[in-house]
Amino acid sequence: MKHIFQEGTDPSRPTLLLLHGTGGNEQDLLPLAGRIDEKAAVLSVRGNVLENGMPRFFRRLAEGIFDEEDLVFRTNELNEFLDQAAEEYKFDRQNIMAIGYSNGANIAGSLMFHFQDALRGAILHHPMVPRRGIELPDLCGKPVFIGAGTNDPICPAQESEELKSLLEKANASVQLHWENHGHQLTFGEVDAAEKWYKINF
Ligand code: MLT
Repeated sequence: MKHIFQEGTDPSRPTLLLLHGTGGNEQDLLPLAGRIDEKAAVLSVRGNVLENGMPRFFRRLAEGIFDEEDLVFRTNELNEFLDQAAEEYKFDRQNIMAIGYSNGANIAGSLMFHFQDALRGAILHHPMVPRRGIELPDLCGKPVFIGAGTNDPICPAQESEELKSLLEKANASVQLHWENHGHQLTFGEVDAAEKWYKINF
């Protein structure tokens, strides 16, 4: 997958996996990584799917309606890419922390829904429930931050609560942070994610 890798200065820190929103690319979230942990290695990936020229991590049939078959295929593809990248760049495969926004948060959520050890934790900015009706792996001890907007038209408030409860049922430890905004990523939310990271990693 097309990506950028930046080596960290402290190998004990997690590798930050950056996953952009629809229409973004691997450059978008680089400033966030510096805010969260300036000593961490960074792996920023571009989604392999194009929707009218806009990169994404999996296909959708309509706004908020996912192509489940493609979601599963792309989740496997990203998980395998992480295995390869860890070998190539010599970082700890067991210590990857995702930071995703919107569609990128949805594929990060999907990694956690499908694989016990794909991620050590995640910061999910404006995620949705990636899939319903499946049993999640045991995510015991995995910290997850969800940033949500009370007026988010793409991800309704109750869906953020539903995602929290599904992850908690799988034993993840979830912090749900609310901003009185829509789908955009706000400074307040990034600050909250940074504080959460300092406590959990
Ligand atoms: C998705 O398709 O993943 C969500 O609708 C978020 C987005 O618009 O990318």
